[in-house]
Amino acid sequence: MTAPSLSSMFSLEGKVALVTGSGRGIGLEIARALAGAGAHVLLNGRDAGRLREAAADIGTGNVACLPFDIADGNAVREAFAVIEHEHGRLDVLVQNVGQRNRKPLQDFSDEEIRTLIDVDLSSAFILAREAARLMLKQGEGRLIAVTSIAGQIARANDSVYTAAKAGLTGMVRALAAEYGSRNITSNAIAPGFFATETNLAIANDPEKGAYFANRTPMGRWGQPSELGGAAVFLASPAASYVNGHTLVVDGGATILM
Ligand SMILES: NC(=O)c1ccc[n+]([C@@H]2O[C@H](COP(=O)([O-])OP(=O)(O)OC[C@H]3O[C@@H](n4cnc5c(N)ncnc54)[C@H](OP(=O)(O)O)[C@@H]3O)[C@@H](O)[C@H]2O)c1
Repeated sequence: MTAPSLSSMFSLEGKVALVTGSGRGIGLEIARALAGAGAHVLLNGRDAGRLREAAADIGTGNVACLPFDIADGNAVREAFAVIEHEHGRLDVLVQNVGQRNRKPLQDFSDEEIRTLIDVDLSSAFILAREAARLMLKQGEGRLIAVTSIAGQIARANDSVYTAAKAGLTGMVRALAAEYGSRNITSNAIAPGFFATETNLAIANDPEKGAYFANRTPMGRWGQPSELGGAAVFLASPAASYVNGHTLVVDGGATILM
């Protein structure tokens, strides 16, 4: 048997990928990496202008914008109807949207708890369901969710986000069990501490920034581009038998005692 070439193992040529929350931060870098591997990438977010800027920033011809709010079920269904109409398939869904509201539980209103769980967890089921319906028809697919090391470990003043990410990790495993026999894999990428726009205030604060850097064996924050390879791997032929896995990309933060 001839050995497969490195490029064929990691090629996403001919694949259609949707990356939610890809106007900036981690989602943008995952979208850039998938486009670099040859996929036709659909950028998503609520701000259409920002998505156009992101598409221009990626600068390859194989990206398009699909603005919608992932927490709006009707908007999700409409977006998938567009995907089916324009592309006839979806090969890769990267669920990257995640909002955070750091504060003690006693300061949350009912509404704030429900909204955060809705955006970070319930919406993921609706997106995965819509993707699975297309993937079942085409007989293959890759579901990838961006969870967090918060899905496995915990900090004070972050309970709702932590629970949502733990739930998302459970969803990833459950869908791996549910769809594995249909050639649809389901995996997670769990980032550690990444200096994205949302985290800049912490990353730039000398004391807090150094705390998280020093709490990581590699001694620094991650750069969002350092997550691109994990997404390409999980979407690629190289990961054809990887299912139900959480790929932790955290510079070693979670292995420290
Ligand atoms: N940064 C970290 O250190 C870190 C660590 C662990 C896990 N993560 C996870 O990684 C993911 C990305 O994090 P990030 O730091 O890159 O986040 P970010 O900078 O806040 O970016 C989030 C993106 O999601 C979009 N978005 C937010 N709500 C949306 C909605 N309802 N519908 C559609 N798009 C929406 C935002 O665009 P619009 O506002 O224009 O819609 C934005 O492009 C999240 O799931 C986060 O929990 C991050």
